[in-house]
Amino acid sequence: MQFWRTRAFVYALAAVAVGLMLLAGKMIARGPERFGPVDMVKMDPATPVPSTPLVGGPFTLTDHGGKTVSDADFRGQYMLVYFGYIFCPDVCPTSLQLITDALNELGPLADKVVPVFITIDPERDTVEAMRDYVAHFHPRTVGLTGPVEAIEKVAKAYRVYYAKVTGKSGNNPDYLVDHTAITYLMGPDGKFVHHFAHGAELPKVIEQLKDKLAVK
Ligand code: NI
Repeated sequence: MQFWRTRAFVYALAAVAVGLMLLAGKMIARGPERFGPVDMVKMDPATPVPSTPLVGGPFTLTDHGGKTVSDADFRGQYMLVYFGYIFCPDVCPTSLQLITDALNELGPLADKVVPVFITIDPERDTVEAMRDYVAHFHPRTVGLTGPVEAIEKVAKAYRVYYAKVTGKSGNNPDYLVDHTAITYLMGPDGKFVHHFAHGAELPKVIEQLKDKLAVK
């Protein structure tokens, strides 16, 4: 009898199905930094985002030096775009540190890349607060804030979900913000190239960045 007709094959298929279900369950149960339904499919860093051409778009915001900047100012360089907020207890610092470590390991290739941290908590993350915050990470990191409507627009363009939630922990005096924790690599033309899920491992991120940055 051919293998695909055997009971063992059926069991193997069932095992794979259960494995996938467990994995999905694990993603859902991620605590305060939840992922929106759209982002569920983007979890595996090896899987291309299905709506690739639809990620990203124009923005005009204020950088951590108080200067007005737009997406066009980054043309010719890669951007590693990450959305988050200063009061974030651990997910944002972990992601920004990962970007910092990856760029430090990349050598000269890293010169092509600008890390861009866009706040989804603009009411608290003022220009001054952003200036102090980005100083903890890669020296080329640009912190962007702006009016609530401008942040809503850019988050939507990047398919980033965020929502204030009540809850106090550590240095969070008022509220936490649930948000998508994906890092987007955007090309010198401003178009989406690749994404990294939260929890991606440093050696893998370095390897993928080398691959993506070396081609163009
Ligand atoms: Ni965060």
